Amino acid sequence: MDKRILLIIGGGIAAYKSLFLIRVLARRGIKTRVILTKGGSEFVTALSVGGLSGEKVFTDLFDLTDEAEMGHIELSRNADLVVVAPATADLIAKAAHGIANDLATTTLQATDKRVLYVPAMNVRMWDSAPTQRNVKTLIDDGQYFLGPDEGEMACGEFGPGRMAEPDNIADKIESLLRGDTSLDGLRGPKPLAGKHALITAGPTREAIDPVRYLSNRSSGKQGYAIAAALGRLGAKVTLVSGPVAIDPPSCAELIRVESARDMLQACENALPADIFVAVAAVADWRTDSSADVKIKKDASGIPALKLVENPDILKTLSQAQSRPDLVIGFAAETNDVISHARAKLGRKGCDWIVANDVSGDVMGGDHNSMIVVTETGEDSFPRLTKADAARRLAEKIAEHFS
Ligand code: CTP
Repeated sequence: MDKRILLIIGGGIAAYKSLFLIRVLARRGIKTRVILTKGGSEFVTALSVGGLSGEKVFTDLFDLTDEAEMGHIELSRNADLVVVAPATADLIAKAAHGIANDLATTTLQATDKRVLYVPAMNVRMWDSAPTQRNVKTLIDDGQYFLGPDEGEMACGEFGPGRMAEPDNIADKIESLLRGDTSLDGLRGPKPLAGKHALITAGPTREAIDPVRYLSNRSSGKQGYAIAAALGRLGAKVTLVSGPVAIDPPSCAELIRVESARDMLQACENALPADIFVAVAAVADWRTDSSADVKIKKDASGIPALKLVENPDILKTLSQAQSRPDLVIGFAAETNDVISHARAKLGRKGCDWIVANDVSGDVMGGDHNSMIVVTETGEDSFPRLTKADAARRLAEKIAEHFS
């Protein structure tokens, strides 16, 4: 990856980890230019930082030589991402309030790039109301935070306060440089804030009598993962779910239903929505009438079930007057996956069809290989866990709205 970051090293014992970070990034082909704050230089030296980064280390705003070589404005723009590690309570507070009284804080205010803060401080300082207020301000301003990790700290206390490990920071830096922002442990802007996402998930159950029903093997895992991923990106999520045995994501409003007709009703009640993702394996048919009492295996012999078609929820919402802006269906196929999916796109009137080959272990399993089929093309995801596939799809949805 041919990218450059600007690393601001604040004053904290964790500054030594930033030396490792520079090495890890270099191994991944990412160049690092460093601003070493006055506090940071109490813990690591400009000599060791420069030796590892292979570049001049910047320290003082009022150094005429530095300004002549590269002004602080240029320094702040001449990187693909700015990383503050360790981010101290002081640096976070100054950045949140626009205080710019040294090279690091001036650069933070002048930059037009995204900033990733990697905090390290005493647990009480981290938990304190001012720090939490400042962190929220910076996140609301569009900046990112990673950590702090929980554990025993140099000061002897235990709790959240340890700086994230260099490999983890480097992973997140790489992802942010790729534009992927919905990462575990990373807090930051919510691109889907203000959007309402409606998801159907799981199977439906079509009653034959009070104790018997027709259904299918859907586990609900993929739909629940998509609901969680959209919630993590800031969407308000309504999850309309058939009977499943998994826990719902905490960020979603869960509406439990049994039959296809109940599912349709619940979806219509939940409108308006900006995004509709139909993941449910809706039973295509139901019996034309369900018995009020248990059918007995008596003289009338083996009952013949007459099936009638269920309403198509995806098609109905695609054609609804208050149609969501983005309607996505799923196509569970066992052969000719893309051509069947493309035909389904037209038939259902949705914007995207997520095709998946269910001939293997998809139904009920933990992995999925999705192909997002749109009017204009196909986007194939590799085989991923259902959680990762959901994240990729949620990112793609966020991109659509950006
Ligand atoms: N779907 C729906 N309501 C139905 C049936 C399906 O909302 N009554 C949605 C599913 O949630 C999925 C998409 O439609 O998003 C595709 O469903 P699928 O059963 O794979 O396709 P069908 O149209 O039923 O076609 P076929 O069974 O012939 O493949």
